[in-house]
Amino acid sequence: MTGAAIRIEGLTKAFGPNRVLRGIDLDLPAGAVTVLMGANGAGKSTLVKVLCGVHRADGGRVLLEGRPFAPASPAEALRAGVVTVHQAIDEGVVPDLDVASNLLLDRIADGSVGVASARRLRAAARPLAEAVGLAADLGAPVRDLPLADRQLVAIARAMAHRPRLLILDEPTSSLSEAEARRLFGLIDRLRAQGVALLYISHRMGDIRRLADRVVAMRDGVIAGLFEERPLDTAGALRAMLGRDLGEAELEPAAGGRPVLEARGLVLRPGARPFDLVAREGEVIAVTGLVGAGKGTLAGVLFGTERPAGGDLRLDGAPFAPASPAEAVGRGVFLVPRDRRRNALVPDWDIGRNLTLPFLHRHAAGPFLRPRSETALGRRMVEEMGVVCQGVRDGIGTLSGGNQQKVVVGRWLAEPCRLLVLDEPFQGVDIRARRDIGARLRETAAARATLVLVSEVDEAAEIADRILVMAGHTIVAEHVNRALDLGAVMREAAEAAA
Ligand SMILES: Nc1ncnc2c1ncn2[C@@H]1O[C@H](COP(=O)(O)OP(=O)(O)OP(=O)(O)O)[C@@H](O)[C@H]1O
Ligand SMILES: [Mg+2]
Repeated sequence: MTGAAIRIEGLTKAFGPNRVLRGIDLDLPAGAVTVLMGANGAGKSTLVKVLCGVHRADGGRVLLEGRPFAPASPAEALRAGVVTVHQAIDEGVVPDLDVASNLLLDRIADGSVGVASARRLRAAARPLAEAVGLAADLGAPVRDLPLADRQLVAIARAMAHRPRLLILDEPTSSLSEAEARRLFGLIDRLRAQGVALLYISHRMGDIRRLADRVVAMRDGVIAGLFEERPLDTAGALRAMLGRDLGEAELEPAAGGRPVLEARGLVLRPGARPFDLVAREGEVIAVTGLVGAGKGTLAGVLFGTERPAGGDLRLDGAPFAPASPAEAVGRGVFLVPRDRRRNALVPDWDIGRNLTLPFLHRHAAGPFLRPRSETALGRRMVEEMGVVCQGVRDGIGTLSGGNQQKVVVGRWLAEPCRLLVLDEPFQGVDIRARRDIGARLRETAAARATLVLVSEVDEAAEIADRILVMAGHTIVAEHVNRALDLGAVMREAAEAAA
């Protein structure tokens, strides 16, 4: 470590009456990864947005290599070497432009690269892409890229500026294992080159893998700094929550009558057939590495994919949905992953986003009845513990984890036969994860629930039964009692190998 690249002194920021940063004091040394932990809404992304020129601080100051630094815009921060990969990835790229143009955006803007032929642009962009291990088609619009590649585009674009500080705000919450490993490799290289890194995550696995030091933030102040080896992550959790979080306890239920029955289900040609029964009142977690087939299972149940063989029944009747509309009509709901794309309407307020799937209930003829919608919105905000000022505020004013509570919460409010949740804990802090999990179990009695998660400790927190998938089939099944989670993970990895 070569001293503090960045020094933050007494930084404050409020949104109206909401004092989000209340005097942040923090050094970020060069050549080290500082992990920032904090509950949803603690102010992490707000701090990031002040550092990278999206927001102006109200008070305090930032020193970059000893000189005062108060960027008026993201472009100015980028020129000074402060590079940010945002939680909402599309803040770092222009989705409608192709990859090459995105990589060269800043040079096109400052005139150092002319808007030449597409071929010349691509040739100029190629080294930038290679430097970060981005293998995408340089002529494709960024909008069509998987999220991991869009992130790499944002990082690659920034690398041209000789980064001094790279900030990653929950970069892995929707990445696959392989994509996350590629990102971690890049982080290791940048650390070795003496870049200061600020890494925000709720995932203990990432934190243990990357952290040189851990900073806990609570209610807009730094509540703890942990630098001694081995890093005291339990202490950091305690500092960010203000208390100890005990073990999640649950008594696995056996479930009532079968809701979903799969016999000899073949998810794709060549995969081994399997049986699956999901009963009323039961919460089943399906875990396995990314690519194991969890997404295909969700697609088959929701009518977006066809199985290669087998027989499906719902409440005893044949079930082969040809579309999501048909699945929903039969009482099968899916809470999708990647909420920015699939689940939230950015122009709508919190209340309307919460009631989105059920708008017809709150409509009188063609008009919405705002009062009944507001009442339902308020109730759901309460039940899910969404941290917000009011249900009529824009959804964009919520922190990332609280947006996730909105996405999940609205589906729990509505009766259905089979509820499938695909990675419902993305970006959610550990306490909120427990809250969502508890709510999920409280509401589970009258339906069957399938939760798809790649982290096995998440499965253990919520499920009565845990199924392990690999190679598009189910390779193991456990009742969730006194489980050795390490063994379950090894089982998934071995079956995949
Ligand atoms: N543009 C905005 N307008 C009004 N309030 C905002 C805005 N951005 C953030 N807030 C509020 O500031 C507080 C902190 O939000 P922030 O996004 O910084 O949290 P976070 O620590 O990043 O949480 P998460 O882990 O959920 O991403 C929240 O109460 C949020 O509602
Ligand atoms: Mg955030």
